[in-house]
Amino acid sequence: MGFSLQRLVVLALAITSYASPLVYSRTAHTSHTNSNGLTFNHFNGSLPNVTILATGGTIAGTSNDRTATGGYKSGALGINTLLSEIPDIFNIANIAAVQANNVNSGDISSSLLLNLTHRLQIEVCDDPTMSGAVITHGTDTLEESAFFIDTTVNCGKPIVFVGSMRPSTAISADGPMNLLQGVTVAADTKSKDRGALVVLNDRIVSAFFATKTSANTVDTFKAYEQGSTGFIVSNKPYFYYPAVQPNAKHVVDVSDVDAVPRVDILYAYEDMQVDSIYSAVKNGAKGIVVAGEGAGGVSTDFASAINEIVAKHNIPVVLSHRTVNGEVPTADITGENAKTQIASGMFNPQQSRILLGLLLAEKKGLKEIREVFFKATVA
Ligand SMILES: *[C@@H]1O[C@H](CO)[C@@H](O)[C@H](O)[C@H]1NC(C)=O
Ligand SMILES: *[C@@H]1O[C@H](CO)[C@@H](O)[C@H](O)[C@H]1NC(C)=O
Ligand SMILES: *[C@@H]1O[C@H](CO)[C@@H](O)[C@H](O)[C@H]1NC(C)=O
Repeated sequence: MGFSLQRLVVLALAITSYASPLVYSRTAHTSHTNSNGLTFNHFNGSLPNVTILATGGTIAGTSNDRTATGGYKSGALGINTLLSEIPDIFNIANIAAVQANNVNSGDISSSLLLNLTHRLQIEVCDDPTMSGAVITHGTDTLEESAFFIDTTVNCGKPIVFVGSMRPSTAISADGPMNLLQGVTVAADTKSKDRGALVVLNDRIVSAFFATKTSANTVDTFKAYEQGSTGFIVSNKPYFYYPAVQPNAKHVVDVSDVDAVPRVDILYAYEDMQVDSIYSAVKNGAKGIVVAGEGAGGVSTDFASAINEIVAKHNIPVVLSHRTVNGEVPTADITGENAKTQIASGMFNPQQSRILLGLLLAEKKGLKEIREVFFKATVA
């Protein structure tokens, strides 16, 4: 065969792959600002459009020690610095990067999440030229924000949450690949109508079910009972099933909401005192979620305190479970308690808090709130 076409192809591939970090030939001159004022650098009209709302977290974290995966500074780098490490991303989508915040995820507030929802509605949902969005976020409370956005943004376009467990300065930092994969999923039409998604560690997990399972390791986001929605190899997303929505999903319209009422979570344990519930209400909680023992258990005294609080203040009290999986069945809440307490069903305490807060923001009454949680209840 001698000097064959095959060899030429191999040579061409070798040159391309050598040059791959800079394959995009567009420069900052090809920037484009769309009708909502989103600016895309390296714009190419044939590529899908994605906005990144960056909020900080470990993915933007730095440390002087390359071996440190703890004790680093979160939210130290801006989104454009993170993007400059992965120019390959500009061959996948046009990216409008917006620095919404730059904090540790413990400092994310419902005020910021409402703002993100309003932005996503206008800049992504209502704009037919946009494919989807990526939200970069610290991992500690990522599941809460993802559940919030999944509940409030419901236009079928993918909203993808991305974070990392290792700071950007660590050996084998996971942030750059997670961000690349997140944008790829947000730009992919196969990602539509699946609700918000969490993309880390080569996996795509439904935001409705995702929970952080390890405080330290990169394989942390899981939906234990439901499994991943898909996975990614060589930056190609693969979904196991066609698009589907969870049976228990309830969408809340927050277009007229400008604040989410305070809801507190009270953790149940042996020797739990009743004063935490009085204190929560006294300090302004408009709803209470109890992270109950097993299937929502609390002591007899605490159950009486709940009844008293509900009778006096008419505020909803949702009984959830401190276990990772399972449900609080309505059948477990009997007698006098059934009049006042709401079983969370499968929603864990952090999901219950967000859902209850959003339902209160919508001015829903006890009966309607009970009906929403009942959809997540088996028995
Ligand atoms: C624009 O994107 C298309 C589709 O991926 C690609 O074929 C083309 O080469 C890109 N143009 C430039 C100038 O990068
Ligand atoms: C990206 O948005 C621009 C308008 O800002 C539009 O002209 C272009 O067609 C969009 N790309 C895709 C693939 O829809
Ligand atoms: C959300 O938007 C409102 C109105 O623009 C602003 O006052 C508030 O500071 C924003 N909240 C956060 C956390 O950015």
